Amino acid sequence: MEKRENWGSRIGFIFAAAGSAIGLGNIWKFPYLAGDSGGAAFVFVYLLAVFFIGLTVMLAEFAIGRAAGLDAIGSFKKLAPGSFWWITGAMGVLAAFMILSFYGVVGGWSLAYFVKTVSGSLSGLSVEQYTNIFESLIVAPMEPIMWQLLFMGLTIGIVVFGIQTGIEKWSKILMPAIFIILLILIVRGLTLEGAGAGLSFYLKPDFSKINGRVILAALGQAFFSLSLGMGTMLTYGSYLSKKENLQTSALTVVTLDTLAAILAGLAIFPAVFATGLAPDQGPGLVFVILPAVFNKMPLGLLFGAAFFVLLAFAALTSAISILECVVAYLKDQLGWSRKSASIIMGGIITAVGVVCSLSLGIWSGYTVPFPGHDPLVFFDLMDVISSKVLLPMGGLLMCIFAGYVWKVENANKELTNGGTLSAKWLPLWNILVKYVAPIVIILVLLNGFGVVG
Ligand code: TRP
Repeated sequence: MEKRENWGSRIGFIFAAAGSAIGLGNIWKFPYLAGDSGGAAFVFVYLLAVFFIGLTVMLAEFAIGRAAGLDAIGSFKKLAPGSFWWITGAMGVLAAFMILSFYGVVGGWSLAYFVKTVSGSLSGLSVEQYTNIFESLIVAPMEPIMWQLLFMGLTIGIVVFGIQTGIEKWSKILMPAIFIILLILIVRGLTLEGAGAGLSFYLKPDFSKINGRVILAALGQAFFSLSLGMGTMLTYGSYLSKKENLQTSALTVVTLDTLAAILAGLAIFPAVFATGLAPDQGPGLVFVILPAVFNKMPLGLLFGAAFFVLLAFAALTSAISILECVVAYLKDQLGWSRKSASIIMGGIITAVGVVCSLSLGIWSGYTVPFPGHDPLVFFDLMDVISSKVLLPMGGLLMCIFAGYVWKVENANKELTNGGTLSAKWLPLWNILVKYVAPIVIILVLLNGFGVVG
């Protein structure tokens, strides 16, 4: 039998896992959630969610994946033979399908905005005109689909090449580029006149703004941003050598992801305030407000182009991790070749994504009722079912699996490489994985159904 692939180096794995985590969730979603939920107070709650719950679930995923050395479904079959726990992995593969379908659409918008910026068609307009451009892009039937096809083509192309020559190689190039571009944008934003107001909005917490809704929003965001609950990190962990330190790897990935989110806010809010625009613009923050900000800043074309390239890169390194989760399953369990799995599944996901894209425009009349929400178009349905139901449920099941079924003793053994690494933090992790994380995640789930919050 062919030997299963492995990461080429420790740093390559870290870049790939951070590349999965750092994506639209950090650069597009985190700043607008913070802007809508009162700035610094949200950031504070988010940090707690990431380091207590997110890190806990990531350690569980890494441990399960590396112990089994298989895809998301095969790992559960191997560690709990004859049980129904493989369904956790199956839910993850389903979530991967759904997330990548709409993620590819937004990835396509990022590419479109890069080209629009470079071609100068975003120069010298009013905020209303920027709003119109965004709204007509997402409803126009053909234009967003062409960009989505390009984005998904790049994603599939990288995954076809496999772990070392595809995912690892590209992550090592794209991740440092993302941090460099973010730093340049921060310096630009902070040196604009009037940037201070944005800085204090973002960094001075007003704790009266914290309520149930903010806490639950922060938790859901932590899951999505860290790529948890779906088996992505489990799959990436399965390509890791037995010598690697899972504890420091998880801490590094969580720290890099959080740093990227915080830096994205630092790049965006000072510039938004300096140009006299409002921070609470929801999902349009990046696509409507930022072009207006770049338009008013010296050398804005250059900085705008850098920003949208950054967004597209970040989306790409995340999209490949989602596709890899599906491909690993077909390879490990059904014996498909990497190439046919990537192309066939990538193709089907892209087709579902076309439906997502059309559901924002010509098919927006078709909606589905969903508990706790207004009727949803297909795009939002994929987002809500995956992020608010499948991911938290997956995270919950992985904690219960690691804590009670596979048992913490076995997880601890994996996390200390058979007792050779420090176990200083494991007593705390054991409490978090068995009690704290499950309870908190159940609350998030109930909120998704509109029961609490
Ligand atoms: N974390 C990525 C982002 O922030 C998206 C992502 C990649 C993801 N893989 C995932 C989300 C797995 C949930 C589950 O954009």
